[in-house]
Amino acid sequence: MKAFTLGRVIPLVEVGAADSAERNLLASDFAVIELPLRDTHYRPLRDLRISVTDRCNFRCVYCMPKEVFGKDYAFLPRSELLSFEEIERIARVFVGLGVEKIRLTGGEPLLRKDLEYLVERLARLRTLWGADVDLTLTTNGSLLSRKAQSLWDAGMKRITVSLDSIEETVFQRMNGVGFPAALVLEGIDAALRVGFAPVKVNMVVKRGVNDTQIPSMARHFRGTGVEVRFIEFMDVGASNGWNMESVVPSSEVLRIISAAFPLVPASRTKPSDTSVRFHYADARGVIGVISSVTQPFCGGCTRLRLSADGQLFTCLFASHGLDIRNPMRSGGSDDALRRLVADLWRRRADRYSEQRGQMNTVRSPSKVEMSFIGG
Ligand code: GTP
Ligand code: 5AD
Ligand code: SF4
Ligand code: SF4
Repeated sequence: MKAFTLGRVIPLVEVGAADSAERNLLASDFAVIELPLRDTHYRPLRDLRISVTDRCNFRCVYCMPKEVFGKDYAFLPRSELLSFEEIERIARVFVGLGVEKIRLTGGEPLLRKDLEYLVERLARLRTLWGADVDLTLTTNGSLLSRKAQSLWDAGMKRITVSLDSIEETVFQRMNGVGFPAALVLEGIDAALRVGFAPVKVNMVVKRGVNDTQIPSMARHFRGTGVEVRFIEFMDVGASNGWNMESVVPSSEVLRIISAAFPLVPASRTKPSDTSVRFHYADARGVIGVISSVTQPFCGGCTRLRLSADGQLFTCLFASHGLDIRNPMRSGGSDDALRRLVADLWRRRADRYSEQRGQMNTVRSPSKVEMSFIGG
């Protein structure tokens, strides 16, 4: 049985070992929650993305342009942030509802003091069917050479680094603070040395800014084991001045790379994957393209985001979140939190990227910033 969405096909019935565990009913004094949780488009809840801070030491032009995120910008005060204990508790509730993958994001997550403490606790979580939770982190790499070993020791096993060019002038202009690409590359090397696998690199491609850097990024990481993903510049938030002319479609990225290095399509691993992957024909590695603008993937979207102040966002492009911090701080039981999440997910109808063309929300000033809910 298949359900058809605008650009994609999603399976309605999933088969496999997970099934028997998934069909469990979560019983409690108050509520019976049938798993897997499905939203209004029949998408299960599988991924939780946790922002641990809204702060960042970069001012990337496509995310936190310095004209908007200046020195007077009002970031969250410390008292508003979820504590690590609160994050762990929420993560547990989510894992109990079928989440298998947790990504720590920011802002820049490595700016949050003692993050390893949280990693250690999250790394101990097991999915409903007893497997390790797929725990990962997206970082700008600025602190990675210092932190790679301690993150590994805490139980993180894979990692994604944002890097938009290896050429200093382009990268330093793009990150808005003149941070050297060389130091991010050192961080990537440290992650490889320590044993992270896979190490992925995310490159947001913006026309006229770093699109000339596509071949050099491919060439640099070919044969290193690092998977580079070329990402279409998106209209997230309300401050990055997005327009369609700045988007380099993935089809163009693929033409550019394959002119230098022939590519062979790889099989898509999961319907919820953001990237479409290709092998180099000579087997010297893998690249991915993430085409959220030209080939939206809402049909398989199993992601929910938790902001650093405890709001739940069911879409990257949402204007409002649902607060879980106050119910928790005012003594709410795990059951109450479970019901809150289950109700939210069951009501979820988001598919912004598929509707982008038909909606008038692109310039909506109320869209939440990506640095607030994580990439
Ligand atoms: P892997 O599990 O390593 O494949 O990670 P991922 O691709 O699911 O997550 P990652 O944070 O690396 O995402 C890469 C980029 O894809 C992000 O920086 C966004 O640009 C885009 N992206 C991720 N999730 C979403 C989403 O839910 N919606 C849209 N439109 N874009 C997304
Ligand atoms: N378009 C696409 N990706 C973005 N990111 C941030 N802003 C945007 C945007 N406008 C993603 C990048 C970065 C991660 C932290 O968030 O992939 O690596
Ligand atoms: Fe910071 Fe990442 Fe946003 Fe760049 S993309 S400003 S590194 S959060
Ligand atoms: Fe999911 Fe919203 Fe992104 Fe679509 S636009 S993939 S629904 S987060």
